[in-house]
Amino acid sequence: MPLINQLPQWQELEQHWGQMCTQHLRALFAADPQRAERMHLETAGLYLDYSKNLITQETLERLLALAEAVDLRGWIERMFQGEPINNTEGRAVLHIALRNRANRPILVNGQDVMPEVNRVLDQMRGFVERVHSGAWRGYTGECITDVVNIGIGGSNLGPKMVCAALSPYQNGSLRVHFVSNIDAAHLVGTLKPLDPAKTLFIVASKTFTTQETLTNAQSARAWLLEALKDPQAVAHHFVAVSTHTERVAAFGIDPANMFGFWDWVGGRYSLWSAIGLPIALAVGFDRFIELLEGAHAMDEHFRTAPFPENMPVLMGLIGIWYVNFAGAKTQAILPYDQCLRYLPAYLQQGDMESNGKGVTREGIPVAYSTGPVIWGEPGTDGQHAFYQLIHQGTQLIPADFIGAIHSHYELDDHHPKLMANLFAQTEALMRGRTYEEALAELLASGMDEAQARFLAHHRVFPGNRPTNTILMDRLTPYTLGALIALYEHRIFTQGIIWGINSFDQWGVELGKQLAGVILDEIQQGQVSTVHDSSTRFLVERFIQQRR
Ligand code: F6P
Repeated sequence: MPLINQLPQWQELEQHWGQMCTQHLRALFAADPQRAERMHLETAGLYLDYSKNLITQETLERLLALAEAVDLRGWIERMFQGEPINNTEGRAVLHIALRNRANRPILVNGQDVMPEVNRVLDQMRGFVERVHSGAWRGYTGECITDVVNIGIGGSNLGPKMVCAALSPYQNGSLRVHFVSNIDAAHLVGTLKPLDPAKTLFIVASKTFTTQETLTNAQSARAWLLEALKDPQAVAHHFVAVSTHTERVAAFGIDPANMFGFWDWVGGRYSLWSAIGLPIALAVGFDRFIELLEGAHAMDEHFRTAPFPENMPVLMGLIGIWYVNFAGAKTQAILPYDQCLRYLPAYLQQGDMESNGKGVTREGIPVAYSTGPVIWGEPGTDGQHAFYQLIHQGTQLIPADFIGAIHSHYELDDHHPKLMANLFAQTEALMRGRTYEEALAELLASGMDEAQARFLAHHRVFPGNRPTNTILMDRLTPYTLGALIALYEHRIFTQGIIWGINSFDQWGVELGKQLAGVILDEIQQGQVSTVHDSSTRFLVERFIQQRR
């Protein structure tokens, strides 16, 4: 397979950008009153308006031709069939099996994975019911009031994001907390108000080797034992979620209290597995199933919809257009929903750990940009912070705006105000404001002409800044599941176009290895000369100043 940028479809897109970069979205809207009607899609409870992108029908056709050229359809099938498309780890990529509500058999090495998926779901349901009913008690017989999930990366960001997103559905009597950072401030601050006798820990780690998680779990165990004194108490207050039974047992957690998953679930795609246990505890198991159902509906759409009507495919291709042809370096995620405040951070791992790669699946350096920097904050907070740069800065920043028709909190006119801001921002980003318009406004306000002519330059908005708008009726478990799956498949689409493996993460290894070496040195009080002078001086300074 040649590098994608050598394909004629790529080169035609380069030429096409040469024409499109002189176009303005304002003009495209003016020339085609049906544009928004044509450029929208609706599926799985989500409505996508992609008309405010700097594209034409021809752009879409050329991008779709690129998708055909790399056999995107075939790759989607391979994923859904359980083929080992994670080629550097020799693994299937089957988060879709975790939410396969149709229960269609999915074979890995000739074996249907669905009975095991369903068995763990049943185990989760039973456990959630026991905790909720009070049948599961702490060592001293107290009911559980607080659950602390100890995990990091995919074993934290997904369940944490979903618990916040579904907080309106939360069962008030059980509080769920998340500890991820190895910085003791995180654990200590979280445990401070908690009663050990009423606290349940979930140690969540796919590999059960992650330094941060194991260190936090050891300290949590010590905190518990300091209060409850008896090592037998651990079994009443610790459960584990992992793919690795022996390591869980070696840590001192009874494997009977372990919820398993499988190596074909990537960490950043694992919230649908038992890693989602805190979600089920927070909002109830039935809500967790609704989350899976929403994701499944999006999976079916992704697998079966023709590409011109396929939401993740179109969003993925439009993203490629900006990264590879328009030179965008970042992608903003702007949820107009406080409950989605952790979505940008979740998608940072989802997208950047998946597509932050510099070699193809065959190990050949790519000669084009791959995954953009993902960032964002909820609206309207972001408007009063960084939108200035999106509107008038010199970088092109494609942005996704996400909002709901109905809020869980219909307080006075908060929600109409929130959504008016969302719609206004996308309009402003698209239209901009010309010098003449800015000048006319200033003159109309009574400003003297010289001052108005000066200020108008500063009040020009170039516009032509692309956005997607994703609307849902309400943020429910179902629509949230669909939304997350939409982004997962967008990431997949882009990874296939770039010819990279979106499912490994070798880039996190080197720092982990070096941290191990440096920790040994700190503990021995002696820095090795193998380090560069900067690292050596910094570590020496740390050792000396702590003496
Ligand atoms: O360091 C990155 C990473 O491996 C992620 O991919 C993963 O989600 C996270 O660490 C946590 O890993 P684990 O669940 O094995 O503790």
